[in-house]
Amino acid sequence: MLFDIDAAHGFYALNAHTGIARMTTETPQPIHLSDYKPVPYLIDRVDLDVRLDPRETEVRSRLSMRPNPASAEGGAALVLDGERIQLRSLVLDGVALQPGQYHVEKEKATIPNVPQAPFTLEIVTTCNPAANTELSGLYVSGGVFCTQCEAEGFRRITYFCDRPDVMARYTVRIEADREQAPVLLSNGNPREAGAIGGTTRHYAVWDDPFPKPSYLFALVAGDLGAVHDTFTTMSGREVALGIYVLKGNEDRCAWAMESLKESMRWDERRFGREYDLEVFNIVAVPDFNMGAMENKGLNVFNDKYILANPETATDADYVNIESIIAHEYFHNWTGNRITCRDWFQLCLKEGLTVFRDQEFTSDLRSRAMKRINDVKLLRARQFPEDNGPLAHPPRPGSYIEINNFYTPTVYEKGAEICRMMLTLTGEQAFRKAMDLYFARHDGEAATVEQFVRCMAEVSGRDLTQFVTWYTQAGTPRVTAEGHYDAAKKQYTLALEQHVKPTPGQDQKQPLHIPLGIGLIGPDGADMPLDLAGVGALNTPLIEMTEPRQTFRFGNVTARPVLSLNRGFSAPIMLEASLSTADELFLMGHDGDSFNRWEAGQRLGRKLALDAYHGTAAAADITAYAGALRKIIDDPAVDDAFKALMLVLPSESEIAAAIGSDVDTDRVHAARDGLRTAIARQLAEDLGAIWQRTGETGPYRPDPASTARRSLRQTALALMVMGDRAQGIARALAEFEPAHNMSAETGALSALVQIDCPEREAALDRFHARHGHEHLLVDKWLLLNAQAQGPNAAARIARLTEHPDFRWTTPNKVYALLSGFAGGNPAGFNAADGSGYRVIAGAILKLDSINPQVASRLATAFRSCNLLNSSRKSAARAELDRILAAPLLSRGVFEIVSKMAGS
Ligand code: BES
Ligand code: ZN
Repeated sequence: MLFDIDAAHGFYALNAHTGIARMTTETPQPIHLSDYKPVPYLIDRVDLDVRLDPRETEVRSRLSMRPNPASAEGGAALVLDGERIQLRSLVLDGVALQPGQYHVEKEKATIPNVPQAPFTLEIVTTCNPAANTELSGLYVSGGVFCTQCEAEGFRRITYFCDRPDVMARYTVRIEADREQAPVLLSNGNPREAGAIGGTTRHYAVWDDPFPKPSYLFALVAGDLGAVHDTFTTMSGREVALGIYVLKGNEDRCAWAMESLKESMRWDERRFGREYDLEVFNIVAVPDFNMGAMENKGLNVFNDKYILANPETATDADYVNIESIIAHEYFHNWTGNRITCRDWFQLCLKEGLTVFRDQEFTSDLRSRAMKRINDVKLLRARQFPEDNGPLAHPPRPGSYIEINNFYTPTVYEKGAEICRMMLTLTGEQAFRKAMDLYFARHDGEAATVEQFVRCMAEVSGRDLTQFVTWYTQAGTPRVTAEGHYDAAKKQYTLALEQHVKPTPGQDQKQPLHIPLGIGLIGPDGADMPLDLAGVGALNTPLIEMTEPRQTFRFGNVTARPVLSLNRGFSAPIMLEASLSTADELFLMGHDGDSFNRWEAGQRLGRKLALDAYHGTAAAADITAYAGALRKIIDDPAVDDAFKALMLVLPSESEIAAAIGSDVDTDRVHAARDGLRTAIARQLAEDLGAIWQRTGETGPYRPDPASTARRSLRQTALALMVMGDRAQGIARALAEFEPAHNMSAETGALSALVQIDCPEREAALDRFHARHGHEHLLVDKWLLLNAQAQGPNAAARIARLTEHPDFRWTTPNKVYALLSGFAGGNPAGFNAADGSGYRVIAGAILKLDSINPQVASRLATAFRSCNLLNSSRKSAARAELDRILAAPLLSRGVFEIVSKMAGS
């Protein structure tokens, strides 16, 4: 074959490594949920024989197939997906197919005539793992063969009906050079292994007893080190646990192993879910597009989410490792035992599993802090997505490139929807409904509707309107107007909900919104809730279903302060229009810690907006600082909460609140100015925090120590703003002798906020200390990306030329380029367009190396609709430059065309 397929690009292309230009084709077409049809042929069994070789791996696949009784297309041709692989032979029921009996086109192979009874198809293909820079399918990372099949990577390994509703039992034989790859792993249980007589090669056979979709297939082979442990399940079965890493990293796996055992225990305790194989293996590799992948019995991880010791991992790393291990483990039930019918249902597994990992962290650490941190993440990532050209429902109706839909909306908003169902149905019914879901759909490929039906059936609640959360894009804005009638002792709450139009959805339906509520009396205590027409509320919750609704509370003996959407019970934007005095009161008294924090955020945002518009009043800042002082000086308040209270809403949140015509330099100046003012007023208190939060013993990643360090670092960042010279001196004194990575990066994060020679010296010093450790080089790149001041884009461009930077390693790209575009809004949105230029250039360069990474980077432009006109047109010019490129991947085309057209 002269041309093969440039897989993720979706275009005909000459074999990438011959260096000859590719051919372009038509505009990529979307796939629609409404077109879903069952497959005409099912695959019951897959026997794979993979003969590994870095440049030419041979894959022999034997498929046991039969017509699908659920298909309406009896007698249809058999169409198999395949990309970037060479077909060597096809044998149907033992007979080799001749060229006229099948045809191979871009991305598929078709056999027009197959038996209308069970049959066997044998396929031999080859592929080139060493040349695979897209990191989808079979590739090589750190000398190790590994696979990534979600969403559509299996078709880059062999021809297959590569969609999640085709579930099969797999047996896998792996063969490789014994010295190159002494470790041979796949899904399921190990069955057999041995030498291949008279050769340097050996083999292993793995058998997975559970039917699974192809996206959960995995294979790993290499010269890996390992740590082993065991876990005894609730029914007393012993599971062998293994974590495999590049040699030399074995001593950095202990935290990951502990986290795995915690996860297994928790899923038994909280959801009654037991592990189901004899072994559970995790492999960590340095080149990985995502964070981690839940392949059945063989999770594959980006090594930054496995490797940890105090010298190389920060507190945030420890927390991330714990929760990502949990997330992938929890997929064993929510995703693997019950999978998705089609990729439109992605949030069925991802939203639900994020919800489960959030609950895990809440149970293990502090529930209140976890909630605040999750909402911060939602606001930082999902709200901007929902508020711009990339807005889509948690269950989208169409896509061009499925990899573009692993989004904050599918994940984080998907998790919020699960949480709302818990709130609406109650703890007990929710657990029962989960049990029903597991029992009813085990072994199936399910839909969102089927999941919601379990919730509705068990709880007896009508969730028809609630499903709109899955199908409608946009963040609802809820306005609340409260009125107290002292004579009638009545409090009236008038609510309105509204969703702005989003691309392709002009008309919006009202949503079913659960709102946690408290009416706080003058003494700071919650008053009883006596709702007209209902009576005393046993749960402090009201439910909004109409565009406009009024709630009347009786027996309210004094003017209350409203605390609404407690615990962030719904993912909405609330406009409660409280007075500054009431906000300050909530900061001091709200019994709901989420809303206590939220009041501080609202007030901080208002002050930042005032500063932006030049209308800041010194007295307001003083009052705000005073409220903060009360909190940080209160020994009864958790350090983690103090730290969260001391952080103002982000620049992008402030920009979103401004709404349009945003000047990002002024946003930065307004926020920093406010921080400087607060830091000066709190100088003494911050100094006291500094005195008491130093490290006293060896580093420990437990919640209390993590909270203490988080407060210390937040205080340091503020002190640098308040008194530069003293702040710099403290940061350097922290950095130099530091024995743990949290302290080192904490000090550097404080320094990179300001343009000073000391930060350059400290960054150099960090590189000199840690330049040999790839994960620490990533931290160094990220810190550089966040460096504030003029010429930020030039620093980025320069660093892409640094010998430690590599375009082919996603972590390097995410640290430097996504870190800049997302973590340095003033630099990215520089008035001269230099930030947009460097990112657009990177997107174009990456698109031919790894289009998934390029697409992710491209989302950096998602909030350009908020900017002032000169910035908007500078950004638009760069988007147009990308669209004008002769060849674009489907993924980048989809993202960039949406943003350029907005
Ligand atoms: N199934 C995903 C990994 C994945 C995503 C594979 C996209 C292919 C394409 C996995 O379960 C996941 O969600 N990973 C997250 C981390 C998680 C803690 C939210 C990731 O990789 O970012
Ligand atoms: Zn996931």
